[in-house]
Amino acid sequence: MEKLTISDLEIEGKKVLIRCDFNVPLDDKGRITDDTRIQAALPTIRYALGRECAVILMSHMGRPKGKVDPKLSLKPVAQRLGELLNLEVLMAPDCVGPEVEKMAGELKGGEVLLLENLRFHSGEEKNDETFAKQLASLADVFVQDAFGTVHRAHASTSGVPRHLPSGAGFLLQKEIKYLKQALEEPERPFLAILGGAKISTKIGVIKNLLPKVDSLILGGAMAYTFLRAENIETGNSMVEEDKIDTAGEILKQASKKKVTVLLPIDHVITNKVSEDAESKEISEVTIPQGWIGVDIGSFSIKRFSSAVSSSRTILWNGPMGIFEIDKFSNGTKAIAEAIAEATKKGSISIVGGGDSVAAVTKSGLQENVSHISTGGGAALEFLEGKELPGIVALKDK
Ligand code: 3PG
Repeated sequence: MEKLTISDLEIEGKKVLIRCDFNVPLDDKGRITDDTRIQAALPTIRYALGRECAVILMSHMGRPKGKVDPKLSLKPVAQRLGELLNLEVLMAPDCVGPEVEKMAGELKGGEVLLLENLRFHSGEEKNDETFAKQLASLADVFVQDAFGTVHRAHASTSGVPRHLPSGAGFLLQKEIKYLKQALEEPERPFLAILGGAKISTKIGVIKNLLPKVDSLILGGAMAYTFLRAENIETGNSMVEEDKIDTAGEILKQASKKKVTVLLPIDHVITNKVSEDAESKEISEVTIPQGWIGVDIGSFSIKRFSSAVSSSRTILWNGPMGIFEIDKFSNGTKAIAEAIAEATKKGSISIVGGGDSVAAVTKSGLQENVSHISTGGGAALEFLEGKELPGIVALKDK
């Protein structure tokens, strides 16, 4: 790691402010449905507690746009974190202001205080200097551990490190290590699997990965735009008409660079995207008019799985079909299983993006993947080769 890390900082007995990404999914009753991001923050928090630090945690939740929204309070996170740490996590009524300053001031070594949602203040997303200073004034040292948010130039990511000695936490270090290794020195063959609805959100990633990978699997709805670029009929499937030329250009580039591109060769199709709609598997690549492609078919599953099993580095982002609907989730599940198998045999696997991570965890395969990224947009921007403001803001070693 080129940046200073928590291990480079003098933190013993100090007040440490840690930026976490506790933006976790909640159900309609406000209960946490997936605590992966909270679990992922534990090593850094435990390290600070082990050094008698008074630990102040901050995060955003959702997009309240500078207004207080009780539904987006971090209270459920304080509760869950307390259970995981087996100690009481104090909840601040806000993230700045006299009451918070008092609570932070009185916090003792070994205690944990969670600040309320940073995005209840517009200063957070505006990267407001006064707001950043107010946050920084609560502690002696700052640790950036919110990998999922380092692509945002906000007060808590890029402002606070201007005012405090700062370093990267263990989660941030781990995320950078895996993603960087894949981009810079992957064990070969290197396979990237990209899926999801839209090619427009993945163009930057595909372009940056093309010179680095040996093969590329394209699945999910975005594969239909690529199929159309190959003049294959896709019926009523979702296609980004204005991206067909770009898709064609990408396929040309890939062939020039001798990258093997695997597209679906058969499909699961439906006449309506819903659980109870009629659906069937077709064994050809062409999708008939009136039908919508919603998952990859059995031949594609076999072909993709065999590519996975013969790769040494596997990077996966995005589902192969409409994963939220159970009967259209087989392709995505099969990829998760193939990756877990390959990892058992010694391959390095990195999985990012909500649905692909959910597929891995739903199948109970999380222990069989080398690294599950906690970042959605952040991981994509990293893979695009962009500089991320929250990382840039930390000092070099
Ligand atoms: C995420 O969930 O990707 C991060 O928490 C960032 O959230 P944002 O997209 O609302 O900035």
